[in-house]
Parts: sequence; structure tokens; C-alpha cells
Amino acid sequence: MKKMKKKIRQLLKEKKAIMLAHNYQPPEIQDLADLCGDSLELSIKAAQTDAKVILFCGVHFMAETASILSPDKTVLLPVKDAGCPMADMVTPGQLKAKLDKLPPMPVVTYVNSSASVKALSTICCTSANAIDVVESLREDELLMLPDRNLAMYTSLNTKKKIHLWEGYCPVHDMLTAKAGIKVKEKYPEAVFMAHPECRPEVLELADVVTSTSGMIRYAGESEKKSFIVGTEVGLIYALKTANPGKKFYPASAGMECKDMKRIAIEDVARSLEFMEGEVKVPENIRQPALTAVQRMIDLY
Ligand code: 13P
Ligand code: SF4
Repeated sequence: MKKMKKKIRQLLKEKKAIMLAHNYQPPEIQDLADLCGDSLELSIKAAQTDAKVILFCGVHFMAETASILSPDKTVLLPVKDAGCPMADMVTPGQLKAKLDKLPPMPVVTYVNSSASVKALSTICCTSANAIDVVESLREDELLMLPDRNLAMYTSLNTKKKIHLWEGYCPVHDMLTAKAGIKVKEKYPEAVFMAHPECRPEVLELADVVTSTSGMIRYAGESEKKSFIVGTEVGLIYALKTANPGKKFYPASAGMECKDMKRIAIEDVARSLEFMEGEVKVPENIRQPALTAVQRMIDLY
């Protein structure tokens, strides 16, 4: 393992590559990465880096977003079919059919979506900025997709009318209010942090609703010592690394995203060595998708 890690660091240097990893990635991947973060932080980094190669440890839509933002760089996803079931819940054809039935309105698309769906959108958002993105629009009525839970959470925090899409993240949506109440009873002293991809009745039980990196920051700044983590279990490693003196309990041990666990250290080495797993968004999709992603990034 030590040898493999050394080889990867060497390859990263040789190929002038940067290794980005989402906060849900396995511990050994997080440890090796140049930067770990939530979807927003990783998108911003992908737009700013001067590396020639972006090695993305996450799922397909994340590598696509990097390709949209950095068309001159080679973007590698070490396991090319690591996907996101929620992103697959909307296709361009389905979106066009929905828009045909609605009066003209902006489309706010969660980054957890394909590049071709982004290409039909007005602006993108992440879990960290959905409310700000919606508030930044001139219009008072909009369609938000694909996550119904994020859309419902956003609509509770804005006066705007939000039409939602019936998509959801199977990992977050599996957490029930009953399970939330039970874990709160078990750890009554703990702060309950939940991701906005959770169901509305779960978010109602939470003390804090925020993105994955938002949870890392919140736990670090809080004087509280223990936290219930209402998101994918991989975040617990990142939380513990950043806050060694504090305790973190999963809201449900079953909240594991299989796709986020597909990349192993050997895949990273192979992908870098042979430049395998390139993700490249075709120019006719990239241009309109960039307009939506860039509009979000320009808010910062
Ligand atoms: P964030 O890290 O942006 O909060 O996203 C969570 C997620 O589900 C990514 O797939
Ligand atoms: Fe998609 Fe949910 Fe996995 Fe995130 S945790 S990649 S939203 S399935």
C-alpha cells in the first residue's frame, strides 16, 4: 500500500496532475488527494487549477463538471461507470417534455445531473448554495431538479414558487423520521446534522441542514462534542480527521453510496499511469452546460 501511494504521488507529479476527491470517498483516497471537498468546492477548484490533468475521485457527473469547466485539461475518472442514481432520474427528453407543459420559467439544476441536462438549464446549484442560487434569479417561479428533497427544503427557505422533479438520492431518502427520532434518543447530547437530500420530515428533526463540507466546518466551529451525521457514512472519516477530539455517529449505518466506494487505490494508479477513464463532454453540450455552471460559480 505504501509503495502504491508513493507511485501515485510520483505519477501525479510527472503528469502535472491534481487529485480531487469528494468527501464520501474511501479513507485511503481522501488521504492521498490534493483536495477533498463538497461538490461546490471541487467545481471551483476544477475551474481554477493550472494542472494539466484532473484526476477526479467521485462519480461521473463530477468529472463531467470538471470537463465542462476545463475543456483543455484531461479529466480522468478512475472507474468510469461510477455513477449517481439520482442524476440518472432525469434525461434531456424527460426535461423537454416537462418544460413543454409549463409556462416559461428558469430551470435550476442540481450539479448531480448529466451534462446534457445541465445544457438545458438556466443555472446550476449544489447543496451548499441552492437557496442563494434561487434567490439570485429575477423570476419568482422556477423548476428545480432532479432532487425533490432539496427542492422542498429550498422552497421552505424562499418565497418563490418551486416546481419540483420527482427524483431523489436513494442513500439519503432511505433515512426515515422514525430512524432519526431513534438515533436522537440514543445520543440526546449530540447535534443532529442533516444533508438537504434527506426527506423533509428528517430535516425537521435536524439542528443543522448543510452540505458535506458545511458539516465539517460546523462541527469544527461548534463547542459541542458529539454529532449525529445525517448523510453518507464516508463523511465520518473526514469529520473525524478534521475534528479528532469529537464524536460522530451515523444517523443510519445503511447510508452508504456504493458508487462513491467504487474507486480503489489501484484504480487511481492505473488511471494515471495509462491515462485511462477520460471523461470529455462534447463541445455542443459543453457550451450550454458551461453557461449554467458558470452562472452559479460567478455568484462567488
Ligand atoms: P455535497 O458534498 O455537495 O454536499 O453533495 C453530496 C452528494 O450527494 C454528492 O453526491
Ligand atoms: Fe448520488 Fe446520492 Fe451517491 Fe451522492 S450519495 S452520488 S446523490 S446516489
